Amino acid sequence: MSWNKEIVFVGGKGGVGKSTSAAALAVQAAAAGRRTLLVSTDPAHNTGDIFGREIGGKPVQVEDHLWALEIDSEVETSRYIAQVKENIRETVHSGMMEEVHRQLDTAKASPGADEAALFDKLISIILEERSRFDQIIFDTAPTGHTIRLLSLPELMGVWIEGLLKKRKKTNENYSRLLNDGEPVEDPIYDVLKERQERFAKAREVLLDPSLTSFVFVLNPERLPILETKKACDLLETYDMRVDTILINKVLPDSADGEFLAERRRHELQYLQDIDDTFPQQRRIRIPMQPHDITSKADLEAFSRHLGS
Ligand SMILES: Nc1ncnc2c1ncn2[C@@H]1O[C@H](COP(=O)(O)OP(=O)(O)O)[C@@H](O)[C@H]1O
Ligand SMILES: [Mg+2]
Repeated sequence: MSWNKEIVFVGGKGGVGKSTSAAALAVQAAAAGRRTLLVSTDPAHNTGDIFGREIGGKPVQVEDHLWALEIDSEVETSRYIAQVKENIRETVHSGMMEEVHRQLDTAKASPGADEAALFDKLISIILEERSRFDQIIFDTAPTGHTIRLLSLPELMGVWIEGLLKKRKKTNENYSRLLNDGEPVEDPIYDVLKERQERFAKAREVLLDPSLTSFVFVLNPERLPILETKKACDLLETYDMRVDTILINKVLPDSADGEFLAERRRHELQYLQDIDDTFPQQRRIRIPMQPHDITSKADLEAFSRHLGS
């Protein structure tokens, strides 16, 4: 196991250190000479501050071999919904349009929409940027909804195929009747077909363990262990294997005092639990620092614990 897979997803609950780990991995990859793209999905994260550069929706170079990109999930959700509206414009009767738009705007506010839009964006990045970079590192991993979306080509393959065939047939009939046998354009056919192909292509990359690495970050505490186990099992169900567990914010040996000694005793138990719960995964411990990770030097210090 090494850190040089083309695609790296860094998952885990809020606050455990995903964005920090992803940034540290990116700095390390760039230092090793790999053209690296760090994709941050966390608007609160200080990726821009760390590199002293404003980062936005397009890759900007922040260092030698290192580019960064920030995804704003609100912007992506609006874009996504607008695109859905555009796609259905041709199929929905104009009298129904207002109602359909109302429904879509309601959908936009639902939590699943953010995830779906974000995932759509991740797929675009993988498909469009992969050839330009040696490594793409995301500070998020597919979860719940999005994993199910990933299995879409498989689950819905038959359904979409059927739909496509039917539409094709209808179109051929139309062509014969209305268009002197010339094919009529079918935007929905094209949209469906393109979507199916994109999902299938992305899936091929994501399900190939020689290309994609799934990393989970947790802290040595009870709930994160349980939640990480659940997330790993869910990914497994869809044939995606978590290969690395980053155990972040482990009390350093140098931390002393009675209070910390007591905490360390509990922590030892959790560290043991983690070893027992994730026997198949590479497990890496990263000590808690006395302060937040806010500079490039902090990141480099952090990345020294990651191994190569
Ligand atoms: N090993 C560590 N020691 C001290 N602070 C850390 C460590 N890892 C992360 N942090 C801090 O914890 C906070 C949450 O980290 P972050 O990477 O933003 O988490 P996430 O992306 O999982 O929400 C940040 O303030 C970060 O600087
Ligand atoms: Mg984050």
